[in-house]
Amino acid sequence: MTETAPRRLLPLLTGRHGGSRSALTCRFRCGDACFHDVPNTSAGEYFGDVAARAFSRRTALKAGAVVAAAGAATTVLGQQPALAAPGKGQAGKSGAAPGLNFEPVAPNTDDKLTTPAGYLQDVVIRWGDKLFSDAPDFDPAHLTAAAQQRQFGYNCDYLGLLPLKGQHEFLLVANHEYTDEILMFAGYDAENPTREQVEVAWAAHGLSVVAVTSGQRGKRSGALDPMVDHRLNRRFDTHSAFELTGPVAGTDLVKTAADPTGRTVLGTLNNCSGGLTPWDTWLTAEENFNQYFANAASVTDPVVKERLRRYGMTGGASERKWERFDDRFDLLKAPNEANRFGWIVEVDPYDPTSTPKKRTALGRFKHEAATTRVTADGRLAVYMGDDERFDYFYKFVSTDKVGKGDNRDLLDNGTLYVAKFTGNSPAAEITGDGTLPSDGAFDGAGEWIPLVTSHGSEAISHVPGMSGVEVLLFTRQAGDAVGATKMDRPEDVEPNPVTGVVYVALTNNTKRLLPGEVDEANPRVNNKHGHVLEVAEARNDAGASAFAWRVFLLAGDPNDPSTYFAGFDKSQVSPISCPDNVAFDKRGNLWISTDGNALGSNDGLFAVAVDGEFRGQVKQFLTVPVHAETCGPWIDDDRVLVCVQHPGEGDGSTFENPTSHWPDGGTSVPRPSVAVAWRADGKKIGH
Ligand code: FEO
Ligand code: CA
Ligand code: CA
Repeated sequence: MTETAPRRLLPLLTGRHGGSRSALTCRFRCGDACFHDVPNTSAGEYFGDVAARAFSRRTALKAGAVVAAAGAATTVLGQQPALAAPGKGQAGKSGAAPGLNFEPVAPNTDDKLTTPAGYLQDVVIRWGDKLFSDAPDFDPAHLTAAAQQRQFGYNCDYLGLLPLKGQHEFLLVANHEYTDEILMFAGYDAENPTREQVEVAWAAHGLSVVAVTSGQRGKRSGALDPMVDHRLNRRFDTHSAFELTGPVAGTDLVKTAADPTGRTVLGTLNNCSGGLTPWDTWLTAEENFNQYFANAASVTDPVVKERLRRYGMTGGASERKWERFDDRFDLLKAPNEANRFGWIVEVDPYDPTSTPKKRTALGRFKHEAATTRVTADGRLAVYMGDDERFDYFYKFVSTDKVGKGDNRDLLDNGTLYVAKFTGNSPAAEITGDGTLPSDGAFDGAGEWIPLVTSHGSEAISHVPGMSGVEVLLFTRQAGDAVGATKMDRPEDVEPNPVTGVVYVALTNNTKRLLPGEVDEANPRVNNKHGHVLEVAEARNDAGASAFAWRVFLLAGDPNDPSTYFAGFDKSQVSPISCPDNVAFDKRGNLWISTDGNALGSNDGLFAVAVDGEFRGQVKQFLTVPVHAETCGPWIDDDRVLVCVQHPGEGDGSTFENPTSHWPDGGTSVPRPSVAVAWRADGKKIGH
């Protein structure tokens, strides 16, 4: 693709980037990623030789057969259709897909959680709520690190509910992605943070495990309350111990003065979404870790400098200035510390003494999520997105089969792949304005290109010029070398539990500027509302190396001709913008939460059928309060949970004068929280 001129329009506090995110979100969430150069400057072409191209064509042909199989409505495995045909939606269709029978919530800018008529709601746990009775009550005017270490952290993103006891006790796991210091501290001076403020932020990052119960509320209530002092409650923060496992553990590039063995890392940073394994552990994804590390600009070694640049580390002082209080955040003083972040972390929430493991065999990038599906022969596939404009979509497949035990080493042995998408329409028909090509679909075939195979402490590289350990540590550069497809910010990924089709949320990309820069899988220029892809693995096997794919949704205002709702009548859908986290209900309906709605409404949670006559009928289930993002949707029969992340994170918003007062109301500070909705009549969601 053509490179555009470098952009260094660092935002003013009251500025706004090209999409709809507030300047505060850009600054605190991802270190102003949108205002820096796109880190992927690779050519985006497969540098393979003729044989490799022939291989490409062969796999494309094989995957083409999958499309044909999908057209015949069954896969080789005889399961559900792999990819439903587009255009099934009918004008004037009444009713709703099974499980999605609710009145859609209208777009709005209200400072509250808005749910459909007939639904009730409650807050499960807020920033500052105690997990242990020895913590003080939340006092926003007097935050301390000691208190925060025993309280729910800031900016929850992923949430999962694991079974605990019967139908009413669960283990809630949640990430605390990052902190909004300007909303946390009175008179916060970003140029001169105090040690006390930095230590609170260290404690407010990380993870929470907290038992919750519905037992206190009566039979019909879906409300959940934290069980303070439950023996499984845990907080992990920037000083908790994490073990590096897999081939990178113990190698020179992860050794530091504080950890000469290269095996124990303090902290997990910027954990965004995640997933659960079949053996009930939690995978949590370290995302924009780059923003915490200072002074990349002063690094002189050209190889190291390029590796840092590819991960977005190019500047001087960091936003939060942590390097002033701990040398490990200064790349000149601790050059390897940044190599110890950017991993998928596995947590065993049922063992309160367990040390979480950073699984290096799954590669290092800005991990958004990690969701799993068992392959046809019993191994585990883990799907992962790298949330950066023009970065890649990955899959890890374990060597060993999923066993009945704790599968302790399963994620240390296996092969990491990156996706290459090929369209089946002529390039001239991909015009960049969302117009469907003449075959009626943005679709095609794809292949999983192997990057590295991990086996114990060994890593066998499949990328010429890079060692196995280098591929795991600098996975983005490995993806560049094999010509992976540059995507429009791959965020959450989720296999449909009913059909096996994998859904990939691509949040947006306003830097894909020219018609020549689009491809059939990323078919819009200035894609400010994002899209959702369907990926159907060959033979419906998560272990396959080929797949078919199709664009399911081109988000935006349905009146915008560049949008596409899987062929459904656009007069009957909710406007949706910036799909981010995705989840499924048991029926196989897709639920999509949004981040950065560029249509003037608050962000929300949407549900859509992916099969049958209502395929593509997007319906808004809830909206979150002012300047919040909807995260971590969790859908079960009786309740819908979301994380309300960064309420009040708007232009000009401060601790003293925030733009949101949710959830406590009055003049209170906004508090990122987990919220729950359920039906007032006690019936199942959407019935
Ligand atoms: Fe933390 Fe990519 O959102
Ligand atoms: Ca096509
Ligand atoms: Ca996200």
